[in-house]
Amino acid sequence: MFVKTASVYGRSRQQFGHAADYSVIIPGMSTPAPAERAARLRQEIQQHSHRYHVLSAPVISDAEYDALYKELQALEAQYPELVTPDSLTQRVGGAASEKFEKVRHPAPILSLSNAFSTDEVRAWFERVARLDDRVRGAGFVVEPKIDGLTVVLHYENGAFVRGATRGDGEVGEEVTPNLRTVRSLPLRIPVTGKRKPPKRWVVRGEAVIFTKDFEAMNARLAEAGERTFVNPRNTASGALRQLDPKLTAARPISLLCYAVVDAEGLALDTQWATLETLREFGFPVTSAARRFADLEAAIAYCESWNDKRDSLDYEIDGMVIKIDDLRLAADLGFVGKDPRGAIAFKFPAREVTTALNDIGVNVGRTGVLTPFAILEPVEVGGVTVRQATLHNFDYIAEKDIRIGDRVLLKRAGDVIPYVIGPVLEARTGDERPYKPPQKCPTCGEAVEQPEGEVAYYCINAACPDQLIRNIEHFVGRGTMDVEGFGSKIAEQVVKAGLVKDAADIFSLTDKKLLTLEGFAGKKAENLLASIEAARSRPLARLVAALGIHGVGEVLAADLAAQLGSMDALQHASDEDLVAIEGVGPNTAATIADWFARPGNKRLLNKLKKAGVWPTVEVRPGAAAGGPFAGQTFVITGTLPDFSREQARAFIEERGGKVTDSVSKKTDYLVVGEAAGSKLTKAQALGVKIIDEAALRELGNID
Ligand code: IVH
Repeated sequence: MFVKTASVYGRSRQQFGHAADYSVIIPGMSTPAPAERAARLRQEIQQHSHRYHVLSAPVISDAEYDALYKELQALEAQYPELVTPDSLTQRVGGAASEKFEKVRHPAPILSLSNAFSTDEVRAWFERVARLDDRVRGAGFVVEPKIDGLTVVLHYENGAFVRGATRGDGEVGEEVTPNLRTVRSLPLRIPVTGKRKPPKRWVVRGEAVIFTKDFEAMNARLAEAGERTFVNPRNTASGALRQLDPKLTAARPISLLCYAVVDAEGLALDTQWATLETLREFGFPVTSAARRFADLEAAIAYCESWNDKRDSLDYEIDGMVIKIDDLRLAADLGFVGKDPRGAIAFKFPAREVTTALNDIGVNVGRTGVLTPFAILEPVEVGGVTVRQATLHNFDYIAEKDIRIGDRVLLKRAGDVIPYVIGPVLEARTGDERPYKPPQKCPTCGEAVEQPEGEVAYYCINAACPDQLIRNIEHFVGRGTMDVEGFGSKIAEQVVKAGLVKDAADIFSLTDKKLLTLEGFAGKKAENLLASIEAARSRPLARLVAALGIHGVGEVLAADLAAQLGSMDALQHASDEDLVAIEGVGPNTAATIADWFARPGNKRLLNKLKKAGVWPTVEVRPGAAAGGPFAGQTFVITGTLPDFSREQARAFIEERGGKVTDSVSKKTDYLVVGEAAGSKLTKAQALGVKIIDEAALRELGNID
């Protein structure tokens, strides 16, 4: 029997800073052999990964997933002979290559003929129906035409063995190690019990970067003063063609599959059955595919997506109408390289030209200056665009973008529109070349470009724009989470001089807030109540809220867990910091530097005075002090060394609570010999299960 060891393997192992094996060995239960355990873990991890990356419906928390993953990693480190190429731990296992090998595709990757109007679609249908009358009764499948990068994935006996890019359509480049890093690509086709995957299985799909992942990645890069990416498609393309798979792994590439090229022995008679089988075998498939008996309904469906294309999380350039019966489609043959059995209904490109009236500059939280285009308003795909990103100052220089230029503008997916470049033919000679500002456009202080970075920074910590961004970050969702404190309020309180640093939000009063526009009635009272609630946020959130370069939510949680207090963090040396998992020498130096700055010292003093100074990870409302503060335990079975009363005292002395029955609110079930129904219930609820030894470790105050 397998007992979930969840967080015991994850966070808490890091928290207590040693790599001891916490496997739960329950007296009376046999431990599975390593090979058996590894196989079991691999299967579980694969299922959870599929639920997370393909179905977007996880059933366990990220921490629990990490715990399983780490257990497998540890097991494989201990027994290297257990490592299999389809283990999820091997996603980034490949070595960098010198160059890509060429692979001949089992079937050439063809193009599709395009239709730019509904009449062209009807004309296509009449042409093929005249060739073969059966088409009239065959039905259609309509799918988005995904604007990504075609990839061909080969499986043998259910395992992913080879993957290639499109290349010239006949021969592609083998990028197997890179494709392995794509989280939604199944490394092994799961055996669901329904149908066995065939021995040979070749699938085609598009590699894409989802809009939300693209925007998040760019926001992170911009904040760190690094080069941002221009668009999702080129980013995915560049990432897949990296010689070092670690570089591919660093980009959030996803996959959407739509064709099976080889399914040895498995009959796939229709496109609809193909999509269903792909889903069954764990491949990500668009949710926007539909089947129609009638061409007019198929056309109407295509048209409906023209308006809603931004609601998809990936860029599409049209819809594809396919004859559902694949044999019939194949019988129809080709016109040149285009199969007759399908047609692409293309949407209008969302590129337009407009005048670049000026270039503005945004000041970010870290002082990064980001240029943006101020445009003559123009409509692109139903949206009026007034501004567009220019990425960074190098981009403006490389593209020779000048104020007064006519520029080509693109809106792709739902990402921020961007300027592709100037229309050189439209130059009159009156355009003005642009130089990066020497002074911060907000505060007028000097601007600096650190060596090795593309970004320019305003280095004035008191810069109002920086302060506004800082306050937004401090009160934001992932940090101090002050409800109702949005960007507008951040701007108001800074501009009115009420807030000069983040600590000042805790000295806001009714009287002060009522001087601001729009603060009549209960608004001030509500905001003050939210601020009050935020005072007791756990240490990890406060650490993240400080906005130290490179310290995001995950690292903040590690720092909080390992150092335990703001005082400890503030006085941690470079060596102390480097000893923490996830902290390299650069991050350690950045953190130490942040705490050494006089302005930040002042901020911390003010926070301390305001009582915003959590010492240990405390849940809101829980009693402070002790490693078990705010946590609820249930004990079941006979423990080896503790009596029930001793165990209870051990937990309570450390701030924890002991209750009699397991519920969703239980944090840990401590199990001993002859554990009964409480164990089953805890497993069902996903409660963390530990034995006496693990309890002692967790509660060790040293
Ligand atoms: S089916 C015989 N379905 O578009 C070709 N292709 O212009 C059948 N593409 O090379 C292709 N989304 O790379 C098909 N849902 C989709 C697609 C799709 C994007 C790409 C594919 C193909 C190109 C044709």
